[in-house]
Amino acid sequence: MKKQKDFIYKCSSCGHEEPKWLGRCPECGEWNTLVETAVKHDKRRKEKNGSLPKTLPLSIVDPIEGSRIGSGIGELDRVLGGGIMKRSAVLVGGEPGIGKSTLLLQLAAAVQTKGRILYVSGEESAGQLRLRADRLGINADKSSMERIEIFCSGNLDEIETALNNIKPVLVLVDSAQTLFSADAGSVSGTVNQMKFCAFELINWVKEHDAALFLTAHVTKEGLIAGPKTLEHMVDTVLYFEQNDKTSGLSGTADCRFLRAAKNRFGSVDEIGIFTMGEQGLSPVEDTGRLFLVRREGDLPPGVATAAVLEGTRTILVEIQALTIPAKGTISRVFSDKIDSGRVSRISAALEKHLGLRLSDQDLYVNAAGGIRITEVGVELALACALYSARTGLALPANLAIAGELSLTGEIRPVRRLAARVKTAANLGFNSFLGPVPESQPLPELRAAQDIKSAIKSIYGATSPAPHA
Ligand code: TYD
Ligand code: MG
Repeated sequence: MKKQKDFIYKCSSCGHEEPKWLGRCPECGEWNTLVETAVKHDKRRKEKNGSLPKTLPLSIVDPIEGSRIGSGIGELDRVLGGGIMKRSAVLVGGEPGIGKSTLLLQLAAAVQTKGRILYVSGEESAGQLRLRADRLGINADKSSMERIEIFCSGNLDEIETALNNIKPVLVLVDSAQTLFSADAGSVSGTVNQMKFCAFELINWVKEHDAALFLTAHVTKEGLIAGPKTLEHMVDTVLYFEQNDKTSGLSGTADCRFLRAAKNRFGSVDEIGIFTMGEQGLSPVEDTGRLFLVRREGDLPPGVATAAVLEGTRTILVEIQALTIPAKGTISRVFSDKIDSGRVSRISAALEKHLGLRLSDQDLYVNAAGGIRITEVGVELALACALYSARTGLALPANLAIAGELSLTGEIRPVRRLAARVKTAANLGFNSFLGPVPESQPLPELRAAQDIKSAIKSIYGATSPAPHA
């Protein structure tokens, strides 16, 4: 006979607990997700520690800063904030086929440690992993091959046994969705199972001075709910994104971006840029021209080159705008690489301060190379692209632009202006439109106080504008 108090009802979708069975989870609203779950009295944990929980004076706590391991992959180190932090857990999310498993295997081979590495795969067989390793050229390095242990299972109990046998310094789990445990109570494959198993693995690495990488599939259709629930459990969340493989880019088209959505040990501004090729992922260090379109001669109207910051590096990105008379009674903005709220705000400022009529137009905005741009310094270039699109006047091909545009039409200073000007000049943009520098003047810079004088400095005083 089951004793009532040994069971609770747990939602297999969100993990909410209820003492009684309900048809619908009051927390997430899903139907028929409450499952009878054994209550764990946490015997295991007590036995492990043997005594009552102890507190520590903060002053005697060991700082863990500094105990990083180089991942051996520069772009990954950059996103992580300078290497893999010991005792940390990193979630790598992305669509199927983006390169999560490839990244993990390359990491296993490249990581700068003498310790052992456990690669747990619930998705591929050992043979498939070996094939991939051969393809990546990992087999050439004997010592790195020998320290990598492969374990093909999603069974947490087995994985824990393997961990305790091998005592790896780096644990790679591909993927979180394939993990399961009999102790988690609910049906295998549910979010609860995944959370339970991830939690146990995170605890293991924290207790054993190791680090954990977990992959998670995320699909465009919003199946993000599963991995999202892991985000608060881990220290770092990285998302792999892909560009639209737009042709005509001067860089290699097949780019993958690794972005931190959360990082307890570094900034979330840095992105890692890779290309996927025959030998797996290769870092792109020279990113300056990657987001520019290869073109001879003049720019078409509607195109501006923005010098934006992505973390600590400057990248030049071609911003493209198109304006056409609105199809409906209200004008619409189509922009998924730059926030459409930002596009609306900039177009309102242009209408107000230049008398450029945009409110009866549909606005299309894109960034070449499919990179999402969130940095505020893109605003002046966006304004120039919209102006150029609406007037049909092309911008000079040698002009790079950076600046924040306020609602009052003023151009506000941006961070690291000198670095932007320098990067642009190195790439052949010998003219730069930007805010008035806060310290010393810069020779290539045409500084402008506001959008009106900026436009004047590009086109001269008599620039025609379709008036409001
Ligand atoms: P994969 O790492 O398995 O993606 P994920 O684990 O995120 O689902 O593989 C990504 C894709 O990259 C796959 O379609 C095959 C391709 N690929 C290459 O182009 N070159 C390579 O060297 C490797 C290993 C994979
Ligand atoms: Mg995979």
